[in-house]
Amino acid sequence: MKLLDSYSVTYTCPSNIALIKYWGKFATQFPCNPSLSMTLDKCHTKTTVHFTKVDSPSCDVELLFEGRKNPKFEVKLSKFLDEQSHIFPWLKHYALKIESHNTFPHSAGIASSASSMGALSMCLNDFDSALKAQEGIDVNQCSSVARLGSGSASRSIFKNYSIWGECFVKDSSNEYAIEFSGFSKEFLTLRDAVLIVNDGEKAVSSRQGHALMNEHPFKNVRYENAHKNLEMLIKAMKSGDTKSFVRIVESEALELHGLMMNSNPSFILMKPQTLSIIEEIRNFRTMFEVDICFTLDAGPNVHLLYFEKDKDIVKKFINETLLPLTHRETVIYDQIGLGPHKVLC
Ligand code: PMV
Repeated sequence: MKLLDSYSVTYTCPSNIALIKYWGKFATQFPCNPSLSMTLDKCHTKTTVHFTKVDSPSCDVELLFEGRKNPKFEVKLSKFLDEQSHIFPWLKHYALKIESHNTFPHSAGIASSASSMGALSMCLNDFDSALKAQEGIDVNQCSSVARLGSGSASRSIFKNYSIWGECFVKDSSNEYAIEFSGFSKEFLTLRDAVLIVNDGEKAVSSRQGHALMNEHPFKNVRYENAHKNLEMLIKAMKSGDTKSFVRIVESEALELHGLMMNSNPSFILMKPQTLSIIEEIRNFRTMFEVDICFTLDAGPNVHLLYFEKDKDIVKKFINETLLPLTHRETVIYDQIGLGPHKVLC
């Protein structure tokens, strides 16, 4: 392999929201249960990596996040890149300058680690292919490297919907996610309005939450439920059964937060407004017979999922009823997306 003197590459990669939740991990970031997510569109990270060949082997990293040096992330990234040297042995011959921007506010309850680790993985794999003079890039490897940075990032590499974790689905794996296809056409029109209840730092990180699953009294029931819910959700999405979709998605969100409340130590990430919004969504669904539902990430913000055909009535509902319950009337409108994309300069 001939090492190039320098190379620059830019990718955008979206975040994703899990419908079947990953909570609990083992060994090198393998999930204790399979998960299924929707890839977002507007909420994404744009990352450029400049690779410069150096004479003395080291892996020098400089990170500019939103145009500013970020020493805390720089340390994390150096450690992550060190760990990737078995996949990318050429890394020790390069100094890396990484520039990263998010299209959504930090701590908005949207997994920025998923989009940022996804974008970084795409850049590393793109350079790896260039060095090997290969056509195209290995998507399994892109997903696997993203997974090592942040579990949920493994799912951001694909368009529409992804499945990560060994399960009944053919080719599913703990190492990397796969694209989920074969769903009924209305699911291509799914939208996500993220209602921001609180934009502060979370009291308990995902890493701590995953760790608490190791001794969780309900862990076996949870892992069994996740498999059952995944099977039912896939069936509903294939047959266009939106009523079952709504029921399963909400039950997964509440099960995730139920696990948090029953951990030792217990923690609660929902806020009073989270519950008020959930109640309003359920009332609206009953009153207008519109298939909308909520899901939650590991935080207090509510993802309101709805279909494009209902966008006008849902927007009116958000403006009139939900916005007053949010922090500074903040909502981020997103929708199903096409996955990572190389930016040609
Ligand atoms: O990827 P992590 O380690 O930040 O964990 C994400 C966990 C959840 O967002 C709560 C669920 C999921 O499947 O994305």
